[in-house]
Amino acid sequence: MKLLVVLLAATAFCAVSAIPLVPRDNSHYVEGVSRYIWMPDDEGNQYLIDLQAPIEDDIVSLNAGNRNEYWLFTRRNRNSRQILTNGNANSIRNSQYNGNRPTMVLTHGWNSNGNTNWINQVKNELLAQSDVNVIVLDWRRDASNAIYLPSARNVVGVGRALANFLNFLLDTGGSNWNNVHIIGHSLGAHVAGNAGRSGRQRPSRVTGLDPAGPNFGNNADALNRNSATYVESIHTNGNSLGINDVISHADFYPNGGRRQPGCGNLDQACHHGRAPLLFAASIRSSHLVGRRCNNLSEANNNRCTGGSLVLGNINMGKRGSGIYAMTTRNSWPY
Ligand SMILES: *[C@@H]1O[C@H](CO)[C@@H](O)[C@H](O)[C@H]1NC(C)=O
Repeated sequence: MKLLVVLLAATAFCAVSAIPLVPRDNSHYVEGVSRYIWMPDDEGNQYLIDLQAPIEDDIVSLNAGNRNEYWLFTRRNRNSRQILTNGNANSIRNSQYNGNRPTMVLTHGWNSNGNTNWINQVKNELLAQSDVNVIVLDWRRDASNAIYLPSARNVVGVGRALANFLNFLLDTGGSNWNNVHIIGHSLGAHVAGNAGRSGRQRPSRVTGLDPAGPNFGNNADALNRNSATYVESIHTNGNSLGINDVISHADFYPNGGRRQPGCGNLDQACHHGRAPLLFAASIRSSHLVGRRCNNLSEANNNRCTGGSLVLGNINMGKRGSGIYAMTTRNSWPY
C-alpha cells in the first residue's frame, strides 16, 4: 500500500515535470504548475523552456530598459521611423510628434523586435483609421535571450524605462497620460503593464494581446488592473503561451481563449498570434462583439450569453468590465 502511494505520487509528479518530447505540443502543460513548455520565436524555431531553471544574475540585464528604442510613425511618416530619445527635447521637437493627437504605443514580446509583422499591421491600420502618434518600443536587446526567464524578468525595467520616456515625451510634446493607449503582445503586455503603473499618472488604456502566461500567474509584475484607467486583455492561447487568468477590467476569450479556428491544433504561435490580428481587425470595424460570462469556465467553454461589449477598438474613452467570450471566423477580418 505504501509503495502504491509512493508510486502514485511519483506518477503525479512526473505528469507535471516530465520533459515533453514533441516540439510545439503543450498538451501536458498546466498553467502555474508545469515545469516545461515549448515556445516558438518569431521565425518559428521551437525552444523547450525550463520554467524552474535558476537565472544567473549576469544573464539578467541589471540595466534593463537602458537600451530601449522609441520609433515614431505618423501620417506624415508612415513608413520611415523617427527615433525619439529620452532627455533629448530636439528629438521630439524636430519630429512629427503632435501633442494634440492621441499617442498609441506598441510593444513586442520575447525574441521579437519592433519590425515584427503584427506591429506593422497594427501601425498601418491605426494610421489608416486615425491621425495618431504611433510609438513602437523596440526592446530586442533585453528580449533576446535563448532562454525565456531573463526576458520575463526584464519586463519590469523595460516598462519603467518606457514610462520615464513617456513622462518626458508628454511634457515636451504638450500632452498627458489621458491621451495614451499602450498595446502589448505576450511579454510586451507585461511591459505595457509595468509602464502603466510607473508613469506620473495612469494611461487611459492598456491592451494586453494574449499576455504571456509562463511565470506570470499570481505575479505582481504581471499586467493588472492598476496599469491603466481601463485595462483590456484578449486571450487566445491561454494555459499555454498566453495566460488564462482573469487579470484585467475586461477580459475577452475569443473561441474559448485557448485555441483559435484556422490554426493547427499544436500551432501555439498561430493561436498566440491571433490576439494581435483580432485587435488589428477591431480598429476598422466593431464586428467582434463579446457576450458576458458568469465565470471563467463559461468563457473557456465559449458559452456566454450576457450583455455585449465590443472587443478592442481605439476609442481612448472606452471603458468596461467583466469576462467575455464569442465565436470568430477563421480568417481575416475574423
Ligand atoms: C459558472 O456559472 C454558471 C452559471 O451561473 C454555473 O452554472 C457554473 O456552475 C459556474 N461554474 C463555476 C466553475 O463556477
